[in-house]
Amino acid sequence: MSHENERPARRLTSAFVAAGLTMGLAGGFAALTAGSSNAAAAPGCTAVYSVSSDWGSGFGATVTITNNGPAWSSWTLTYSYAGNQTVQSGWNGKWAQSGKNVTVTNESWNGSVASGGTVAPAGNFGYSGTNTAPTSFAVNGITCNSTGPTTPTSTPSTSPTSTPSTPTSTPSTSPTTVPTTPTTTPSSGGGGHVVNPFIGASQYLSPDYTNEVNAQAAADQGSNPTLAASEAKMAGFQTAVWMDHIGAIAGDSIHHGLQWHLDQALAQQKAGTPILFEVVIYDLPGRDCAAIASNGEIPATSAGLTQYESQYIDPIAAILGDPKYAGIRIAAVIEPDSLPNAVTNQGKPACATATPFYESGVEYALNKLHAISNVYNYVDIAHSAWLGWSSNMGPAAQEYAKVARATTAGFASVDGFISDTANYTPTTEPFLPNTTLQVGGNPLDSAKFYQYNPYFDEYTYDQAMYTQLTGQGFSPNIGMLIDTSRNGWGGPNRPTALNSTPTTPDSYVAANKVDQRPFRGDWCNQAGAGIGERPTVQPYGAGNHIIAFVWIKPPGESDGDYVTPTHPHGDPHCDPAGTNTDGNGGTYPTGSLSTGDVPAGQWFGAEFQQEVTNAYPKL
Ligand code: BGC
Repeated sequence: MSHENERPARRLTSAFVAAGLTMGLAGGFAALTAGSSNAAAAPGCTAVYSVSSDWGSGFGATVTITNNGPAWSSWTLTYSYAGNQTVQSGWNGKWAQSGKNVTVTNESWNGSVASGGTVAPAGNFGYSGTNTAPTSFAVNGITCNSTGPTTPTSTPSTSPTSTPSTPTSTPSTSPTTVPTTPTTTPSSGGGGHVVNPFIGASQYLSPDYTNEVNAQAAADQGSNPTLAASEAKMAGFQTAVWMDHIGAIAGDSIHHGLQWHLDQALAQQKAGTPILFEVVIYDLPGRDCAAIASNGEIPATSAGLTQYESQYIDPIAAILGDPKYAGIRIAAVIEPDSLPNAVTNQGKPACATATPFYESGVEYALNKLHAISNVYNYVDIAHSAWLGWSSNMGPAAQEYAKVARATTAGFASVDGFISDTANYTPTTEPFLPNTTLQVGGNPLDSAKFYQYNPYFDEYTYDQAMYTQLTGQGFSPNIGMLIDTSRNGWGGPNRPTALNSTPTTPDSYVAANKVDQRPFRGDWCNQAGAGIGERPTVQPYGAGNHIIAFVWIKPPGESDGDYVTPTHPHGDPHCDPAGTNTDGNGGTYPTGSLSTGDVPAGQWFGAEFQQEVTNAYPKL
């Protein structure tokens, strides 16, 4: 397919920059040993760190790991140093380091570790200052020594069985509480599988996020107490926990790991009310194939797929399936920015290469996560400005159906879909309800901003996608979610009333759209954007297919950085001086903020300030 002939948004691609790049491993991964057993399973592992000698500027150390669970066919050890210790050479494993984070993967000859078996990777290190020993270790994403000092705040046992997510907790609104997944084997006991898990559930508030928010509010208190008061309100809303690289499972220097968050969720859970936890599954082989700077940490190869399965999905599934978390309703957002590329970006070699791995990887993730009865799978469907053209929408629905059919449970492995993840497309365009309104003899959707895409907003897009998806065989019970975290577009430039005087589609659209982007394909740290609708259950009532507004992208966390003369990493789509193209030769400003250059997933204070200021509705 040639790019030149494509419609603009067919080339709209990346919504994300992978933190995997900045957090990524320096070295490659060991070949994986074939084996049928799961790489990771509770109850995990023991890790003992010992320094054999220390000569002031360097030292030798060994990490002796014991497998306390079922056999491993491969293993990845992760831990972090507090100081500037740096791996210089290592053995009994492949050693890599990114910042303070160390990752050791097995050699081809020592990947298999029987239950009760031990392996002892070791290395030589350089350092200056204090050589503080690391205290927290994980193997295949499972924290070792789990009753030890590594998780001091994690209140592990508050109420493991106290509040099963019983069907009775969804009193009225889901008349068909018949599980959509009758064939599921409940692996975690007691967690009923309801149609809309958001109903009757409380929201998990990630302490990682509330800390980010509260720190910003505290910093702004002196100079702008009004802003600070609005900012502080953001700590009261749920945002998702992103598993955006293998190291995120155990936790990294910025965010805590998955077990820690689930333990926090248990602690936040109130008796009689299930708590809802949102996790983003985001690390496919060749992730984000259409963006130059945001390809992920795992290569788009069959070895990469094996790695994704055994070192990423299996450890996540092992944690989510822990019986102590069975009372938590877990909404999993499955792989943003993946399958849409199978529809629109096959002209790009990287996407053509990655597509079969995306399909197999999503299939594997759906299988593993669906097998856990308290997990709900929501597959990402991009947004209206990517798949809204009818020539994209039908093929997209077919692509999702193809992947779902390949899973063990078929269509039942998908609970629903999510649009606008980490994007900025408005939920509604209140002054543009009629996309074919004739203005100056032409329909509104002929405006350059819409390029004949008949879906101007997420509400209409999701309704249409629901019809397409159920038409392909998905259950009528599927629920549609919209990520409204940053699609509010309030502030001074938001139109407040219809202006019907313009006489061309372009000028009419410009005068009336709430979406202030120069181009709908702009996606990185958008200037002018604001917080959108708050997380809401059944925002349009019980009969609507949109079952919840959610905040998947934590507002204030950057979408990505860009290259500068002093800073070689980044994505040109995030450069405020850069341009995006529409595939027909049109170029547009990226619309990205010029007030910061912050890597994906890290805190961007000026962006947060703007989004709070421009919240719509106001905070
Ligand atoms: C980034 C992730 C990050 C997430 C949440 C995404 O855009 O690619 O690395 O974890 O946003 O901030």
